[in-house]
Amino acid sequence: MDLLIRKEKVSDYPAVAALIERAFLTEAMSDHREHILVDRLRQTPGFVPELSLVAEVNHTVVGHILLTEILIKGTTHESQSLALAPVSVLPAWQGRGIGSKLIEAAHERARQLGYASVLLLGHATYYPRFGYQPATTFGIELPFPAPPENCLALELRPGGLANSGGAACYPPVFFGEDSSAKD
Ligand SMILES: CC(C)(COP(=O)(O)OP(=O)(O)OC[C@H]1O[C@@H](n2cnc3c(N)ncnc32)[C@H](O)[C@@H]1OP(=O)(O)O)[C@@H](O)C(=O)NCCC(=O)NCCS
Repeated sequence: MDLLIRKEKVSDYPAVAALIERAFLTEAMSDHREHILVDRLRQTPGFVPELSLVAEVNHTVVGHILLTEILIKGTTHESQSLALAPVSVLPAWQGRGIGSKLIEAAHERARQLGYASVLLLGHATYYPRFGYQPATTFGIELPFPAPPENCLALELRPGGLANSGGAACYPPVFFGEDSSAKD
């Protein structure tokens, strides 16, 4: 398998939208709007083009991952973090390590850019292999009505979430609000 992980280009947007929609089609917990979320996130201030990556096999885009900037608001201070959402691999290409490589590449690029942590809402049995722990471990609350084992956090460097307890503030587009209501 000739796999390339690279930064997404504007010309990839249609293929990325199609693959995200396809990847989430049979996901029970999906609202099937993840491709719309990505489109809207690209228009928010927290969008970091270097952290929107695609996986390409034989010059075809088969996977995508996006990390966007968010804030964790504590009682006395705020810390910057990243939200991982979403990660998608075309069903025909799943189970071959592409999702793992996208996640690890996104972490590495985020680390190189100086980010300290990543938060996500996701599968409790998938993300711990990448080092994710319940966000509650760090005193962080995610704004989703989900069990604690699905609200996860990763330190990109030792102590990356030290003294970062508080409420994770996701932009309004995560809650179906219009992207003009930027955070
Ligand atoms: C999740 C996803 C990105 C993983 O991509 P992938 O290329 O298949 O992942 P990898 O090949 O690197 O890893 C496969 C492992 O992921 C696990 N996995 C895949 N989907 C999972 C899920 N929904 N819950 C728990 N584990 C899952 C597989 O069981 C497999 O585990 P194993 O290594 O112990 O056998 C892909 O399955 C996908 O696009 N799913 C639909 C969209 C989605 O749910 N995205 C995540 C939102 S939180």
